[in-house]
Amino acid sequence: MISIDELASYCKRRGFVYPSGEIYGGLSGFYDFGPLGVEMKNRIKQNWWNEFVKNEENIVGLDGSIITNPKVWEVSGHTENFTDPIITCTKCNKEYRADHVIEDVLKISTDGLDVKALNKLIRENKIKCSNCKKEFSNTKVFNLMFETSVGAESENKAYLRPETAQLIFANFKNVYENSRLKLPCGIAQIGKAYRNEIRPRNFLFRVREFEHMELEFFINPNKKNDCPRLQEVEDLEISVYTQEMQEKKLKHKKMSIKECVKKGVMKNKWQAYWNARMCKWYLSLGINPKKLRLRQHLKKELSHYAEDTWDVEYQFSFGWKEIAGNANRGQFDLKQHEQFSKKKMSVMDDDKKVMPYVASEPSLGVERAFLTLIVDAYTQEKERIVLKLSPKIAPVQIAVFPLVNKEELPEKSRQIFELLKNEFQTFYDASGSIGRRYRRQDEIGTPYCVTIDYETMEDNTVTIRDRDSMKQWRENVNELITVLKPRLK
Ligand code: GLY
Repeated sequence: MISIDELASYCKRRGFVYPSGEIYGGLSGFYDFGPLGVEMKNRIKQNWWNEFVKNEENIVGLDGSIITNPKVWEVSGHTENFTDPIITCTKCNKEYRADHVIEDVLKISTDGLDVKALNKLIRENKIKCSNCKKEFSNTKVFNLMFETSVGAESENKAYLRPETAQLIFANFKNVYENSRLKLPCGIAQIGKAYRNEIRPRNFLFRVREFEHMELEFFINPNKKNDCPRLQEVEDLEISVYTQEMQEKKLKHKKMSIKECVKKGVMKNKWQAYWNARMCKWYLSLGINPKKLRLRQHLKKELSHYAEDTWDVEYQFSFGWKEIAGNANRGQFDLKQHEQFSKKKMSVMDDDKKVMPYVASEPSLGVERAFLTLIVDAYTQEKERIVLKLSPKIAPVQIAVFPLVNKEELPEKSRQIFELLKNEFQTFYDASGSIGRRYRRQDEIGTPYCVTIDYETMEDNTVTIRDRDSMKQWRENVNELITVLKPRLK
C-alpha cells in the first residue's frame, strides 16, 4: 500500500491537492484542492447529496452560516466539552495530543481514557518528547473551536463552527415547518467546518479546515424501533466491531445488519439502517469491502451528546480509522436549544406533541472520503500507476485524443469532444505520444479514452480504451453516448 507521504506528493504532482500557501512554507492542517481535486471533491459531494437528499422524499437540505451566535455553541456543550488532551514539551514547547503520543509509543488503544489516565500512562512509561527527549507538562484539555471576533468590538467573541449539525438543530423548527416535514424525516447539510487540531497529521486525514457532510434523522421518540426501511438494507454483510468485542480484545466479525439488530448489537433500528446506508454508499463508490468495518464507540469514548455511536472505519496504512460517524444524539440538542432559547422545538405526531429524537446522524468529512477513495484506488502495476476510481467520482470520465495532429483528425476529435462534454466530464489532449497520453489518464483515474484515427475518417468509428483492463475496441461515433453512459454511472 502506498505510504501517506508518497500519496501526498502524488496528489500534488497530479494537481489534486496542494499544501495551502505552500510558497510561504504552507500551514499545517490546511490544503488547497487543485484542478483535478476540486472536480473529484465536487463529484463526491454531489453524489452524497443525490443519494441522501435528492433521492429521499423526507430529507431536505440546509446551508447554515459558518459563524453564528456563540450561544449556539454554549448551549450545544461545545464550548465546554469539545476538547482534546494536550501535552507540551517542557523544553522545546512543542505541543502534542497526549492520546496519540501514547498510541504511537506504547502501541495501545487509548479510546475512552480521561486526562488523568493519560497522564498516568505518560509518567509510568516515562514517555518523553520525540523532538528533544525532555519531559512533558501535565496533560490538559484544549478546546478545538477556532475563535474569532465579529465587528469592531474585539470582545464580540464568536467561533468558526466545528460541525454543521448544530445549524440544523438551531434551524430545526423553521425547516420542519417550511418544508411541511413529518416524522420520521431528515435535514442535511454540506459545508465548511473548522477544528483547531493540536497536531494535524496523515495528510488529509486530520485537517483543521474541512467540509462536513451531515444528516440529522429525526424520529418520534415513542417509535424508536419502527423502521420499515430496515429490510431494504438488512442483508448487507460487513465486519462489525462491538463494544464487547473491543473490551474482550476479540477481532471484528462479519455480520449481516439483520443479525446485528436481532442480537441487539445495534439497539436502534434506525441507527442500524443508517449504518448500513453509510457503508453501502462507500461500497457503491468501489471501496474494498475487506477494508471497511463498523466500530461501536466504547461507552467512555462517546461524545457529550451521544447515546450510542458507530463509526465506519477504513484500514489505512496507519491503522483502522474513522471515515464516517453515526451518533444517536437522542433529544440532547433540541432539548438544550428549547430550554435556553425558550423556543418550542416539539412537533405534532399522531396528534401528540413530541420532542423529535435523533436516532441517527450519518456524518463525514469530504476530505477523509476523498483520501479513502484515492488510497483505495491507487494501484501500482508492473508498468504503470493506475487510479482505479469509480466513474461516479473520477475527475475526468473520458479523455479524447486525436491519434496524430495531422489532416482532419484534430477537427474531427474536437467535434467528438464537444459531443461528449455535454454528457460527461471530458478532457481533450493532443500532446505527446498516444502511449504517454494513456498513462497520464491512467494515473488520474480516467475510466475511458477515445482515440480518433484515420479509420475514423473512413467509417466514423473510434477506439475506446478501458482503463483497468487496457482492452480496446471500436465503436461508431453515433453510438458513443449510448455505449458509454451505462458504464459511467
Ligand atoms: N456532528 C458530528 C461531529 O461533529 O462529529
